[in-house]
Amino acid sequence: MSILKIKNVHLKIENKPILKGISLSVNKGEIHAVMGPNGSGKSTLSYMLAGREGYELESGEVKFENKDITSFLPNERANAGLFLAFQYPVELPGVSSVNFLREAVNSRRKYLGKEEFNHLNFVKEVRKVADEMFVKDEMLKRSVNVGFSGGEKKRFEILQMALLQPVLSILDETDSGLDIDALKIVSHGVNKYKNNDNAIILITHYQRLLDYIVPDFVHILVDGEIKRSGGPELAKYVEKNGYAGIINAA
Ligand SMILES: Nc1ncnc2c1ncn2[C@@H]1O[C@H](COP(=O)(O)OP(=O)(O)O)[C@@H](O)[C@H]1O
Ligand SMILES: [Mg+2]
Repeated sequence: MSILKIKNVHLKIENKPILKGISLSVNKGEIHAVMGPNGSGKSTLSYMLAGREGYELESGEVKFENKDITSFLPNERANAGLFLAFQYPVELPGVSSVNFLREAVNSRRKYLGKEEFNHLNFVKEVRKVADEMFVKDEMLKRSVNVGFSGGEKKRFEILQMALLQPVLSILDETDSGLDIDALKIVSHGVNKYKNNDNAIILITHYQRLLDYIVPDFVHILVDGEIKRSGGPELAKYVEKNGYAGIINAA
């Protein structure tokens, strides 16, 4: 069952081609890793999927659960079950983390025709999930991401994912800046959330993360194109040999 089908997507930013014909197919139950050098277009791909303004595709197709979502707004995509964990999570001073989470979760529940949580029930739900994701209660009382350490910001992204239960999660360099303990916690959260009805696209620079979250497929993005796809062994190859061989062969 297809969750995401991207066909020959081209995208320009300020008249400069950034994505140059990307095709990618993600099915239920799959984990796809997207690797590639800095500036190759990984974050651009994630922004395009999330519907960020200024990242509209020039040509090509994006189907999410067989629906063309190219005209959907970011919140409509989120309601439909698309989740993006940012490479650089945004701080929202004055917005308490627990209220932020409740609004997001209730918006999706409303869209799905489910009853919305009242504050008390939501607090119970959030405590349970936060505990599983190693997010402390005290963090939830603070403003979103304000004063959070790098590791706390990433854990908070994973908590959002676990609460929202998206169909497709795109994690953009969720491992960057994490020490090994934080990496294990984040990976544990991702593995706990993963099941046969959802899918994950993991954008990462390092194969290290893929020791903890084992992908089914690995794609190497270079200069706006997927130059090679393979299994987990491709990530090991890149770790050992760098991207040069792939760039030169392509
Ligand atoms: N808002 C922007 N304005 C101009 N150039 C941009 C913008 N966003 C991304 N780019 C350019 O697009 C290319 C891809 O960037 P990005 O998707 O962030 O790469 P990656 O995530 O793989 O490091 C880079 O050359 C970057 O400079
Ligand atoms: Mg990036």
